[in-house]
Amino acid sequence: KDRVITLAIETSCDETSVSILENGRWVLSNIIASQIEQHQKFGGVVPEVASRKHIEVINQVIQQALQESKLDFSDVNHVAVTYGPGLVGALLVGVAAAKAIAFARGIPLNGVNHIEGHIYANFIEDKDLEPPFITLVVSGGHSHLVHVKDYGIYEVLGRTRDDAAGEAFDKIARALGLNYPGGPEIDRLAKVGDKYAIEFPKAYLEEGSYDFSFSGLKSAVLNYINSQKMKGNDIIAEDVAASFQRAVVEILAEKTIKCGIDKGVQTICLAGGVAANSSLRNHLKDLCSQHGIAFKYPSLKLCTDNAAMIGCVGYYDYIKGLRSPLSLNAVPSLKL
Ligand code: KG4
Ligand code: ZN
Repeated sequence: KDRVITLAIETSCDETSVSILENGRWVLSNIIASQIEQHQKFGGVVPEVASRKHIEVINQVIQQALQESKLDFSDVNHVAVTYGPGLVGALLVGVAAAKAIAFARGIPLNGVNHIEGHIYANFIEDKDLEPPFITLVVSGGHSHLVHVKDYGIYEVLGRTRDDAAGEAFDKIARALGLNYPGGPEIDRLAKVGDKYAIEFPKAYLEEGSYDFSFSGLKSAVLNYINSQKMKGNDIIAEDVAASFQRAVVEILAEKTIKCGIDKGVQTICLAGGVAANSSLRNHLKDLCSQHGIAFKYPSLKLCTDNAAMIGCVGYYDYIKGLRSPLSLNAVPSLKL
C-alpha cells in the first residue's frame, strides 16, 4: 500500500486534537477542541480538569475528524499519538485511545515526541521543505534551537535554562490582568504600545551560547509593574507589553540568526505556539533576508498544539520502519 492514511491524536496539554493525514504531509482534517474556557478562570491549565475534559470529548473529536476527512475507520491504516512531553493524565487519554484503535484494527502505531511535532508543522506548511535547517521551537513549555539534519535526526544546540518563552508571555500577561493564554494578548497590546518605553534587561549568557534565560527578564517586568503600583502610578499595559515583547523577540531572533549563520544553513524555521507572534515573525524575516537565508513558519493553526503535526512525525517514523509497541506509555518529561 503506498497510500498511508494516518489517524493522529494530540492530548498533551489543553487541546484535544485529532487529524487524518494522507502520506504524512497532506491534511484531510485537523480538529482542535480547545479547553481554554475551562482553564481561563484559574489563569492557567489545571491538569485534573484537562484529563477529564480529554476523556469527555476524545471519541467525539475522532468521529469529527473522520467525518471531515470523508473517510471511514476502515480507510485508516496507521495511528500516531503524542506520548510526551506533557501532562501525564492528559497524555494518557490520547495514548489509550490510540492503542485501542491500533489494537482493534490491527494497524501500526507510532508514539510521537510533541516537540518534534512542532518542528514538523513546517513540513505540512511547505510541501517542498527538506532538511537540513535550523528551527527555533518556542512554546508554552519549551524553547529550543534545533539543527534538523534529516528526518528524525536532530542536534539540540540551545535550550532554556529556566522559563520557556511562552511561559514568560503567560506570566507577564497574568500580572497585567490579561486572559490566559497570554501570548496572543501581549501580541495584540504590543501593536499599539511603545516598544522603547521601558528598557528591560536581556540575558545573552556566555559568548557563543545558544541557550536562553527568561527568568531575569520576567522578574524585571514583574518588579516594574509592582513598583509602579506601589508608587500609585498608572501602568500603561500597552507599553509594558511592547517593551517586554521587544526584549524576548530580540534575544530569540538574534540567537537564531547567529545559529543559522554559524551552521551555514540555507533555511531557518519557526515552530511552537510562540511562533504565532507577529513581531517575532517580522523580526526574523528581516534578519533572514539580510543574510540571504530562507525563512519559513507554519500558519497560525499549525503553530499551536494540533494533531496534524503529530501525524506528520508519525508518518516519517513509520516509513522508516519504526513501530511503537501496544505497551506504549506516556512519558511526561520526554526529551528531544
Ligand atoms: O505550542 P503551544 O500551543 O503549547 C505548548 O506546547 O506549550 O504553545 C502555547 C504557548 C502559550 O504560552 C501562548 O501564550 C503562546 O504559545 N502563544 C503566543 C502567541 N500565541 C500563542 N506567544 C506569543 N505571541 C503569540 N501570538
Ligand atoms: Zn505544543
